[in-house]
Amino acid sequence: MTAHDVLLRKIQDRKATIAVVGLGYVGLPLAVEFAKAGFNVIGYDVSQRVVDLLNEGKSHIQDVPASDVAALVKAKKFSATTDEARLDEADAISIAVPTPLGKTRDPDMSYVQAAASTVARHAHTGLLVVLESTTYPGTTREVIMPAFTGRGCVVGEDVFLAFSPERVDPGNPTYHTKNTPKVVGGITPACTDVAVALYESCIDTVVRVSSTETAELVKLLENTFRSVNIGMVNEMAIVCDKLGVDVWEVIDAAATKPFGYMKFTPGPGIGGHCIPLDPHYLAWKMRTLNYKTRFVDLASEINSQMPAFVVEKVSLALNADKKPVNGSKILVLGVAYKRDIDDVRESPALDVIRLLEEHGAVVAFHDPFISTIREDGHLRHGVDLTPELVDGSDAVVVVTDHRSVDYQLVMNHATLIVDTRNVTKGLVKTKARVVSLSDVTAA
Ligand SMILES: NC(=O)c1ccc[n+]([C@@H]2O[C@H](COP(=O)([O-])OP(=O)(O)OC[C@H]3O[C@@H](n4cnc5c(N)ncnc54)[C@H](O)[C@@H]3O)[C@@H](O)[C@H]2O)c1
Repeated sequence: MTAHDVLLRKIQDRKATIAVVGLGYVGLPLAVEFAKAGFNVIGYDVSQRVVDLLNEGKSHIQDVPASDVAALVKAKKFSATTDEARLDEADAISIAVPTPLGKTRDPDMSYVQAAASTVARHAHTGLLVVLESTTYPGTTREVIMPAFTGRGCVVGEDVFLAFSPERVDPGNPTYHTKNTPKVVGGITPACTDVAVALYESCIDTVVRVSSTETAELVKLLENTFRSVNIGMVNEMAIVCDKLGVDVWEVIDAAATKPFGYMKFTPGPGIGGHCIPLDPHYLAWKMRTLNYKTRFVDLASEINSQMPAFVVEKVSLALNADKKPVNGSKILVLGVAYKRDIDDVRESPALDVIRLLEEHGAVVAFHDPFISTIREDGHLRHGVDLTPELVDGSDAVVVVTDHRSVDYQLVMNHATLIVDTRNVTKGLVKTKARVVSLSDVTAA
C-alpha cells in the first residue's frame, strides 16, 4: 500500500493521531471536534499557560465548554503539550496559528513560518499537514511546502499538504465548527483526497476545491465581501446623517426585498482578528503583482474612520447640552468587537475610548463579557452597570450591542445616549435624548 492509502485507511478507521498546532479560537474547537469524532488528539501550543489550563480540563475559549475539554482529557482522547517531540506521534497536523499584520500593515508570517519549521522537523512518510490560518493566496505552496521539500519530502507521495480555511464565527449560537461547511484544497489531488477524508470524519459538509490557492482565496473573498459591505453600509449611515434620514429605517425597509439584497448593519467600526486584517493580506499580495485592490482599500478607509465619526457625534451631542467633551463623564457600553463575545482584539471601542480621552473625557466602560482591557501595557477595569453610574454619566455611548445588557435601565437613567447599534429601538421612551448614527432624533 502507498503512504496515501495507509493514511486514508487510518483516517477511516479513526486510528490516525491528529495534532493541532495553535490552540486558540480556531485550533481548540477543531481539536475538540477531532477528539469527539474518535481520534486521539494532541494539542501543541507554545503557551505553557494554555497547555496547563487545557490539561486541567478548563477552557480559555468561550465557545468551547470546559466540560467538553475535561471529558476528552479524562477519556485520554485529548492532551495538550508544549513539547514538539510529541508531533512525532501525529499522522495529520492542522496548523491554526495567528496571522497578524505588521506595523506597516503587511502580513506578519512569522507564526506560520515558525509553525511550519516545527512541524517539518517531525515530518515522516504518511504525514498530512493542513494550514488553517487565514493568509494570502500562495502561502501553502510558498511558505509551508519548502519546509518539507527542503528535508527531501515528496509532496503528494510521502507527505500531503493542504489548505482549509477556518470559518469559525465566535459567539454564533447556530453555526459552529461541525456544521459549518469546510473548504479544502491540496497541493496535489492526493493531498486533497486525504485532507477531505480527514475533515469528512468530523465536519458535516466538506467542499473540495482544485488547489491550495483557491482555498486560500475563498476565505479572503468571504471576509473581503463582509468588509466591503460593512464599509458600504457605514457610508450609507454617513449619507443618511447628512440627509436627515434614519439609516435603520432605510435598511429595514430595503431588507424586505426577498431577492438581490443582503442585510448588513452599520456601526462604530469593525474589529476582531479577521475582517479588519484579512483583506489586507489580499491587498498586499496584489501589490506584489502591481495591482491595487481598490474595494479593499476604500472599505478599510471608511470602516477605520467610523470611531472618529462616533466621537464627533458624542462631541456634537454634548455641545447641544452646553457641555464640552473635556471633563465630561462618558460611559462606553460594550467593548468587545461584536455582540455576545469576550474578544476585544482590534475592537473599535478601543479607538472610541482613546479618542474620547484625547479630548479630555473621563471614560468608564461596562461589558458583561469583559472585566479588564489591557492596552499598551495599561490595565483598565470595567464597572458595574448601575442606575447611579448611568445617572452620573454625561453621555452613554453604546458601542457593542450585547444582548444581556439592560438597555431600558440605561434609557431610564441616562441624559444622553449615543446609540451606534440601534439597541434603543422599541424601548419605552424617557427623558434620555437618543442620538443615532444617522442623527434624525437629535434635539
Ligand atoms: N478568531 C477567529 O474568529 C478566526 C476565524 C477564522 C479564522 N481565523 C484565523 O485563524 C488563525 C488563528 O487565529 P486564532 O483566533 O485562533 O488565534 P489565537 O491567538 O486565538 O490562537 C493562536 C494560538 O497559537 C499559538 N501559537 C502561536 N505561535 C505558535 C507556534 N509557533 N506553535 C504553536 N502554537 C503557536 C498561540 O499561543 C495561541 O494559543 C488566524 O490566521 C486567524 O486569522 C480566526
